[in-house]
Amino acid sequence: MLLFFYFYAMIKEWLRNIRMNYASEQTYIAQRMLQEQGGWQSHLKNSKKFIEEFISEHPSKSINILGSGWLLDVPMDKIIEQFDSVVLTDIYHPKQIVNRYSKYPNVEFKTADLTYGAVDLTYAVNKRNFNLEEYLTKIKAIKRVNYDADLVVSLNLLSQLSIFITDYLTNKVALDNNQIIEIASVIQLNHLKWLPQNRSVLITDYEEEFVDEDNKFIGSKPTIFIDIPKSNGTKEWTWKFDSQMTYREDCKTYLKVVATKI
Ligand SMILES: C[S@@+](CC[C@H](N)C(=O)[O-])C[C@H]1O[C@@H](n2cnc3c(N)ncnc32)[C@H](O)[C@@H]1O
Repeated sequence: MLLFFYFYAMIKEWLRNIRMNYASEQTYIAQRMLQEQGGWQSHLKNSKKFIEEFISEHPSKSINILGSGWLLDVPMDKIIEQFDSVVLTDIYHPKQIVNRYSKYPNVEFKTADLTYGAVDLTYAVNKRNFNLEEYLTKIKAIKRVNYDADLVVSLNLLSQLSIFITDYLTNKVALDNNQIIEIASVIQLNHLKWLPQNRSVLITDYEEEFVDEDNKFIGSKPTIFIDIPKSNGTKEWTWKFDSQMTYREDCKTYLKVVATKI
C-alpha cells in the first residue's frame, strides 16, 4: 500500500512538472546555452567567480545550491573538493547531472519546490472560484524555511520562482499586470527573507533589456519586483541571453544580473 502511494505521488509530481513547464525549461536552458555560447559564457563565468570568492572567504563544511539545474553556473570541482556536504536543490534535476554527480559521497540531490507550497497551490487553482486575496494570503502564510547548510547560494533562480507560477496561473484565470506583479513580489520576498543572513549569496537577473539588431536600446522590463540588498562587494553584469531573436522575435534580449551577499 505504501509503495502505491509513493508511485502515485511520483506520477502526480511528474505530471505537474510537465504541465507547469519545469521539465521542458531544463531542455530549453541547455539548448539556449549551446546556441548562444559567447553571450552566456561571460555570465556563467561571472556567476562561478562570485561563488568561488564567497566560498573562499567563508571556509565551511556544507553548502546548499538553490536552483542547481544543469550546474552551468556552479564551480563544481572546487565545491566538491572544499565541502563535506554539497546539497543541490531544484524542482527538477536533469538526469545527466544526477548520473554524473551521484558517485560523489558528499553530493546529495534534493528535489524540492523552493517556494515551499506556491507551486502546488497554483497547480490546484480552480478557475471558477479563484480568489486572489485568499491565494496571496496563503502564499504569505507559508512557514519560514530554515536552511541547515553553513552556506546557501540562490543561483539564477529568483525571477524563475515566480515566472513559472504566474505564467501557469494566467493561462487559468484572468489577471492584470498589477496583479501578476503582486503575486511575483510575494513569492520573491518569501525567498529573499528565508535566505540566512551573513551566509548566503543571491545571484539573479532583475531586468530584461531589449535591443535591436544594431544593439540600440529599445526598452526594458523588470523581472524582480522587490528591493535587492546591495553592499560594497555587490557585482552587476549583462547576460546576453538571446542574441538570435528566438526568445522574442522582434529584438535581442539581454538580462541585467546582480550578485550580492545576504
Ligand atoms: C535559470 S535556471 C538556473 C541555472 C542553473 N543553475 C543551471 O545551470 O541550469 C533556474 C532553475 O530554477 C529551477 N526552479 C524554478 N522554479 C523552481 C521552484 N519553484 N523550486 C525549485 N527550483 C525551481 C529550475 O528548474 C531551473 O533549474
